[in-house]
Amino acid sequence: MTDPLLELRSVNKSFGPVQVLHDVDFRVYPGQVTALVGDNGAGKSTLVKTIAGIYRADSGDFAFDGKPVTIHSPKEAADLGIEVVYQDLALCDNLDIVQNMFLGREATSGGVVLDELTMEERARTTLASLSVRTVKSVRQSVASLSGGQRQTVAIAKAVLWNSRVVLLDEPTAALGVAQTRQVLDLVRRLADAGLGVVLISHNMVDVLEVSDRITALYLGRVAADLPAKESNLSQIVELITAGRSGDIGIPAATAAESA
Ligand SMILES: Nc1ncnc2c1ncn2[C@@H]1O[C@H](COP(=O)(O)OP(=O)(O)O)[C@@H](O)[C@H]1O
Ligand SMILES: [Mg+2]
Repeated sequence: MTDPLLELRSVNKSFGPVQVLHDVDFRVYPGQVTALVGDNGAGKSTLVKTIAGIYRADSGDFAFDGKPVTIHSPKEAADLGIEVVYQDLALCDNLDIVQNMFLGREATSGGVVLDELTMEERARTTLASLSVRTVKSVRQSVASLSGGQRQTVAIAKAVLWNSRVVLLDEPTAALGVAQTRQVLDLVRRLADAGLGVVLISHNMVDVLEVSDRITALYLGRVAADLPAKESNLSQIVELITAGRSGDIGIPAATAAESA
């Protein structure tokens, strides 16, 4: 089995008196989609933001490419090649696709400011490399895009920067059936291109279909970390709602104590 690209060991995170993550172990493998599932409030977004350097873990170890690292800011995460696509897509309606994809990043290459044509070309090739064909022009304003296209642009923005790990927090939550399909296909292609992909989703059918591994969080603890092939819908639903299923999951006593 390949080594994880990103590995977290025994991560704890509290907000004031409330402990949200308890000794969380989490691994992301290159070329795989790792689904992160759990009920509302289980700690999924907190875990993602801790990986993204937005929150700082109270304790725990991080390794990237097998080497110990610290991630204390979004910049440190980005320098490692970790990118996050958030639930509430941070795209600006009044700007076009190219402007959005380069927003907030110095559009420079080796200290040289990139010109509009170069940025346009990079936006176009990135979308093409993701086999995105539904966007007509990269000079279209984002306001004119459908929900699925917006999600696609947000994902393309995340992979524009030689990223190696992409975390997607509920990328299909607001999408219809056809658009969800497009985004799931794109998620799969990111992994097939060798990226380590983390997918948070409430749709367990989608999760089972698109992911290679499933990590289930229950009240801030890892209830299970298993290959998607070896799991099924009812088992995952049990892990999410009860923290355990059959022989796997959190011992009842531990679950009761943290509830
Ligand atoms: N910034 C914060 N301050 C205080 N509590 C927080 C903060 N962010 C999240 N929480 C709490 O942490 C728990 C997990 O939240 P979250 O990570 O958003 O869960 P999920 O994404 O799985 O729904 C919730 O009880 C939530 O209220
Ligand atoms: Mg969340």
